[in-house]
Amino acid sequence: MKKATTLFENGDHSWRVLARDPALPSHLVDTNEYLISSRGSALLTDPGGQEVFPSVFSALSAAADPRTLTHIFASHQDPDVISSLALWLSFKPDLKCYTSWLWNTFIPHFGGTAETFISVPDHGATIELGSRPLQIVPAHYLHSSGNIHLYDPGAKLYFSGDVGAALLPPDANELFVTNFERHIRFAEGFHRRWMGSREARDAWCARVSRLEIDMLCPQHGAIYRGRDVQRFINWFSELEVGVLKLGG
Ligand SMILES: [Fe+2]
Ligand SMILES: [Fe+2]
Repeated sequence: MKKATTLFENGDHSWRVLARDPALPSHLVDTNEYLISSRGSALLTDPGGQEVFPSVFSALSAAADPRTLTHIFASHQDPDVISSLALWLSFKPDLKCYTSWLWNTFIPHFGGTAETFISVPDHGATIELGSRPLQIVPAHYLHSSGNIHLYDPGAKLYFSGDVGAALLPPDANELFVTNFERHIRFAEGFHRRWMGSREARDAWCARVSRLEIDMLCPQHGAIYRGRDVQRFINWFSELEVGVLKLGG
């Protein structure tokens, strides 16, 4: 089962990460789910694939009352992000799911009705969660053509979906980045192949550099803290992306 770790807590406002299931079968990519709570309401980012639903649900229930869950946030359409949707809705049918308008006739193939989805326009939106405003930040083409992130200005935490993701080997499976140079090697191939647009990358790096971020929280791999946040943005801004060189 995954374990919940508290990343931020101030009164009734908190972030927890549900991560690192030792029983995860090796043919599935490992994912991080973030539970953001404020005044009796909770939002779960990229709730994961249907295969990991029991593990995510157990970890969430051990950390908080699952009945407080009101919203799901899907950064994009991938199966590791949102194929568990029908299972979450069978637990709580009135859950609302935020997703890019681009995907709101595709993601319903995983479950839900027209009432389930809140379409996010390209320029983003604000979510009022309990007493906290959360900003939906555009990150289109990084890597999906309709791609959104979530910034919490009160906590100074930023959920970055697949941006910042690293595919970590079992012996380097730490929850936080402790050695940036060592860590980023596990992110490089992923970003080169999955991030398809230099223009989008440049716009995102400029946009995010203006935010105050204590932790950059990706859907895969370790969390960047403190100086490693800007270190990651600088590294990403110089990486060659959107090019596939086929040998032979
Ligand atoms: Fe993805
Ligand atoms: Fe992903």
